[in-house]
Amino acid sequence: LNQLNEKAESTLLPDYPVLAEYYDWLQNQLGGTERFEHSLGVAEASVALAQGFGFSTSFVEKALIADFLHDAAKLMTPAKLFAAADDFQLGLDEWDRATPQTVHPFVGAALVQQTFNIRDPDILNAIRYHTTGRTGMSALEKIVYIADKTEKRTRNPEYIAEMTAALDFNQPETLNITLLKILDATLLHLLQKGFAIHPRTLAARNDVLIQLKSV
Ligand SMILES: [Fe+2]
Ligand SMILES: [Fe+2]
Repeated sequence: LNQLNEKAESTLLPDYPVLAEYYDWLQNQLGGTERFEHSLGVAEASVALAQGFGFSTSFVEKALIADFLHDAAKLMTPAKLFAAADDFQLGLDEWDRATPQTVHPFVGAALVQQTFNIRDPDILNAIRYHTTGRTGMSALEKIVYIADKTEKRTRNPEYIAEMTAALDFNQPETLNITLLKILDATLLHLLQKGFAIHPRTLAARNDVLIQLKSV
């Protein structure tokens, strides 16, 4: 893992010095675990997506910050997450409380807002909605969502291949097609496991489906 981190440091940081500010903090926050590796993978995956679809340099930079920091609160236990959410006055509802895995993005966004004074609403929303998605996702939110599920460092290669099969940088609608595939797979997985489904995930899926049908 250390070797991988060194490799990441040597490959990602020189190109994107914007990440240096967060590097040590995040490594500490995620305990130098696979989660840190995952965060680097998400950054790489979304640079590829954003550049592939021709987004601007400033967009890529925003995506990098959101990607890198998206799981900042991932290692907190549900009890700590709920306590932090109350401290940050995040106003969780009954569905948030029924699905603790959907809370780390909100606590993470509040944490990085406070720690690094990140104010860009698109960056913060990309962090907040990386687990459930939501209706009316921005391009940045979609790219961070997709990158989180399809990065190559820690995700299953077969799953990545299946989810990204339709991606075609010459056809912008394939971003939504890919998003829909991942949302569908996530919903199926939750149903099969008998887990609660956050209504926002279902809403996100219906929203992108309707967008695709109206093209
Ligand atoms: Fe996450
Ligand atoms: Fe993640």
